[in-house]
Amino acid sequence: MEVVPLGPGFAAELRGVTLADVVNHDSAYAEVRAAFEEHSVLVFRDQEVTDESQLAFSRRFGPPEVTKVGSLGTGTHFVILTTIDKDGKVVPPDHRYALRNKANQLWHTDSSFKSTPALASILSARIIPADGGETEFASTRLAFDRLDAAMQSRLENSFAWHHYGHSRAKIAPGLATSEELAVLPPQCWRMVWKNPVNGRNALYLASHAYAVDGMDPVAGEKLINDLTERATAPGTTYVHAWRGGDVVMWDNRATMHRGRPWPAHEARHMVRTTISATAVDGLESMRPPPRIAAE
Ligand code: OGA
Ligand code: MN
Repeated sequence: MEVVPLGPGFAAELRGVTLADVVNHDSAYAEVRAAFEEHSVLVFRDQEVTDESQLAFSRRFGPPEVTKVGSLGTGTHFVILTTIDKDGKVVPPDHRYALRNKANQLWHTDSSFKSTPALASILSARIIPADGGETEFASTRLAFDRLDAAMQSRLENSFAWHHYGHSRAKIAPGLATSEELAVLPPQCWRMVWKNPVNGRNALYLASHAYAVDGMDPVAGEKLINDLTERATAPGTTYVHAWRGGDVVMWDNRATMHRGRPWPAHEARHMVRTTISATAVDGLESMRPPPRIAAE
């Protein structure tokens, strides 16, 4: 396996390894897992991807999420991000599918609004537009390193509230349905996720984060927005331009990402699998103390 660096200090392409190798060989899994802990975003090119091969690969890294209500693919292990309707036509820009893509164009980390957050996401390109439609990544580990020591230690002991309704309300009223909101109450997580393998800290932020526990609401939201802006500053990101056969995997503990726009009349169809974080991924240290959780 060859590791080819792609981004400014994070993200790498893995060559000489396939999804099937990771499924079938413990040694390939161990190498890819180590690269995941180190580089945060991994790109596999020229893969033969089916839903089954993607899921088998994904399962290596932990338990796959079951897709929530209100998302295409609900009840399965797949999230389908598409602009194609059931008749095979590209949907208009105000269609719910298109608005969901628009919500993905806010900087975020997947599943921070769930009661179990995500370790990793695995995204495969099935239909890609001729222009645009890239996915952009920022390293919240490198962003943490760029903060001064006082801010670092403050954030290590701070907790933020995350809510699905918060990010969706930025796009369109009613985009999050009452059915979704009923099963997705606000969640509170530490603002820094320490990687248990290498001890590196990363900011844990997202478009879903709306308040900092114990802070004035306006000041807390401003802090979240300022940190997001610094974490995603020009020159610090990796932009992935999709090709057929690409599979990209990222560490939701140490990155944020956003989709980039593309011409509305062009089809785009992507399939994501998402792996829940577990104790070995450092999940327990992310939980707030009982004083906060009881609120
Ligand atoms: C995702 C996501 C962005 C994109 O799959 O979690 O945010 O470019 N995707 O489709
Ligand atoms: Mn996402």
